[in-house]
Amino acid sequence: MICEDYLTGAHSMDVPQETVDKEVQAILDKIKSKPDFNPNQLFDPEKHLAWKDEYFETTKTFTLQDLGITKTHTKPINNFGATYPFPLLTEDAIDIMKWEAFQPQVVKKYARLTNPDFSLKTNRHDFHIAGYPEEGHAPFTKSVYDHPRLKEIFSQLIGMDVTTTYGYDVNHVNVALADFDLPLDAPLYPEPEKGEDGKPIFKAEEVGSILGQHYDSTSIACVIMWECPQDKGGETVIITGDETPLVIPNIARPGYCTLLQARVIRHIATKPNTNSNRIATVAGYYPTAPILDNSCLTSVRPSILPRSVHDEFYTEWFDFRFKQLERVLADKRKKLWDAYKKGEMFDQKGVIEFSKECQQYLFDSWREMEFANNDPYPPPLFSKPYSELTYEVGGDDSK
Ligand SMILES: [Fe+2]
Repeated sequence: MICEDYLTGAHSMDVPQETVDKEVQAILDKIKSKPDFNPNQLFDPEKHLAWKDEYFETTKTFTLQDLGITKTHTKPINNFGATYPFPLLTEDAIDIMKWEAFQPQVVKKYARLTNPDFSLKTNRHDFHIAGYPEEGHAPFTKSVYDHPRLKEIFSQLIGMDVTTTYGYDVNHVNVALADFDLPLDAPLYPEPEKGEDGKPIFKAEEVGSILGQHYDSTSIACVIMWECPQDKGGETVIITGDETPLVIPNIARPGYCTLLQARVIRHIATKPNTNSNRIATVAGYYPTAPILDNSCLTSVRPSILPRSVHDEFYTEWFDFRFKQLERVLADKRKKLWDAYKKGEMFDQKGVIEFSKECQQYLFDSWREMEFANNDPYPPPLFSKPYSELTYEVGGDDSK
């Protein structure tokens, strides 16, 4: 049954006033107390970019093959897998982004608690904020993602030109705040068991996580750290091709960034295992070329993710998907006329294949909407081993 709450703004999942008054206010107070803090500016790479071009050489990157992933559930955009964290933005830049996200009126309108049904060990301090930069509440944040320099850096690391997806999935903020009623930095869970190499053994079922084991709904996830304790959890954990976890080391400094082809790599965002803040943002990217993207609604549809406010979210989603289709159709029309003018034979088979892909794209745009489908979440796909998936990486498109 469609539940009225998510149709009318998911207000049952509003962030409690107590959290806004205490923990959120403390974040704002801390930023405001910095003498050089100035929120009234736009992104300037000279001032706010921590990236240096030498990092193209020094940043550790993995292809899908490096991660042992040879089968996926949908077509990857290319062979890019993931990067280790690299310095992207300065701490000053992160302060302004945080300032914009945690304004009480933004939290009130755009933040919703994490859905407790799909997360482990979450509470009133765990929430998401999204959609606010697109609606004019965060000029600095918007100017960061709009800047061509960021796109250039990411495109080079990923090995293909990429750009930001629709507004709701650009700068989605994952927030897990320390509880002021408990001792700060106190351990929340027992120390994890250590393996023979002295490193903690990662057990997916034992860590707290903002979202359990999952695929993202956008092609590429760009995760930018805002705040996190050092060596105390909060890592992104990749499930590799042989189903073993690869813990991406948590360079906990603000402004560090990690890229992940999250649509085809199963992963977990862990919570810190101490009573501390972990705040990170995720921005979705997809190929700039006129090709049909592989994004979906699975983990972002409003009935699953309360921060996706129904009317705004679906309007943005269909604006994005229809625009994509328009671009691809325009490109194809041009190619058909060009071929005709060159005297080439009309490619019936090619046009049939192309039309089927467009049909599938339109179908995929709506098939996960609540009105059409209310399948349980998380879907069985999120726990299916890679070996049971059907798309061969680098293989023939037809599987
Ligand atoms: Fe994710």
